Amino acid sequence: MDNYNIALIPGDGIGPEVVDEGVKVLQAIEKLDSSLSFSFTEFPWGCEYYLEHGKMMDEDGIDRLKEFDAIYLGAVGYPGVPDHISLWDLLLRIRKEFKQYVNLRPITLLNESLTPLKDKTKEDIDFLVIRENSEGEYAGAGDWLFKGKPEEVVLQTGVFSRKGTERIIRYAYEEARKQKKTLTSISKGNALNYSMVFWDEVFEEVGKEYPDVETYSYLVDAASLYFVSNPERFEIVVTSNLFGDILTDIGAAITGGMGLATGANVNPEKEFPSMFEPVHGSAPDISGKGIANPLASIWSVSQMMDFFGQEKWGAVILDTIKEMLNETEHLTPDLGGKASTSELGNRFVELLTENA
Ligand code: NAI
Ligand code: MG
Repeated sequence: MDNYNIALIPGDGIGPEVVDEGVKVLQAIEKLDSSLSFSFTEFPWGCEYYLEHGKMMDEDGIDRLKEFDAIYLGAVGYPGVPDHISLWDLLLRIRKEFKQYVNLRPITLLNESLTPLKDKTKEDIDFLVIRENSEGEYAGAGDWLFKGKPEEVVLQTGVFSRKGTERIIRYAYEEARKQKKTLTSISKGNALNYSMVFWDEVFEEVGKEYPDVETYSYLVDAASLYFVSNPERFEIVVTSNLFGDILTDIGAAITGGMGLATGANVNPEKEFPSMFEPVHGSAPDISGKGIANPLASIWSVSQMMDFFGQEKWGAVILDTIKEMLNETEHLTPDLGGKASTSELGNRFVELLTENA
């Protein structure tokens, strides 16, 4: 029997609403598969916690999370708490302390009605973006000199260590080899004459160990265009933190928007827990109404199962999402339906049970 300890951080706004449905799915799997079980421990951290306690998480938060196999997160963000606080003091802290240096963002069109792109099919839009998740442009390095003076200067430094660059690129090559897919590196060596020239060199260098992997290199501006005009060019993509952040939102846009975008923050060595989360935020505009779409959050559960080595369940969840997308009457309003968050979740569990 495999038991997995999962830390729940539902967070703010619609975070708890969508995490509830993901937990429902995990509990259904536990019932359907006698070889699997899950234990859940919930942590009340987030912005509402901050407003009450003056901190996003407890001082010993990182220590307490260390023991878990995975962290399942809803969203953090709340009007009245600056976004840089909620991001740096919780999400980025977990990502950094737990060396979750890989961010996996599947850009997969699950239903053709969901893409705004004319004439693009499910076969055309089906790739994986591997985003560097620990350094690069989001390293937090820089300076603010002569603040408020006429000679004020602000520096935001991109940090590209050999170790950090090599390990993400190597991870991507491994994935491309394993999946027998092409690998595309997205950078900007013509303008960023240190960081991205280095990135391109490392991409080429590491590539020598993977002669079986077919590679492409694009500049980020051209790649943005291709995401929209020729998404079929991409299979596995590797890119830096900032470029990955922006490109994956384009990815979300061509595959059905924020209600369907998921991301895994992975520590491949499994030295620390990895974190699974829908990409969307706390959506204060719809929170409390019971209409948030939980499918992105459920897709995170699929990624979690893959990460646990339970790929069969990862695939069944994804197939069930595809099936659900044909049942408009059981979907939330953002997808044209009238169902509530929990009605969708209940229907999902019914279908999952049939598909298991
Ligand atoms: P958002 O993703 O929360 O909302 C953008 C729009 O998409 C809203 O109209 C919202 O109603 C809709 N939406 C998002 N998720 C949805 C879902 N599951 N079902 C149906 N509709 C959905 O982004 P926004 O408004 O920019 O940010 C709100 C707060 O969330 C901010 O405080 C921000 O910092 C935070 N945030 C947190 C993230 C995280 O925890 N990983 C990521 C992005 C934003
Ligand atoms: Mg983003």
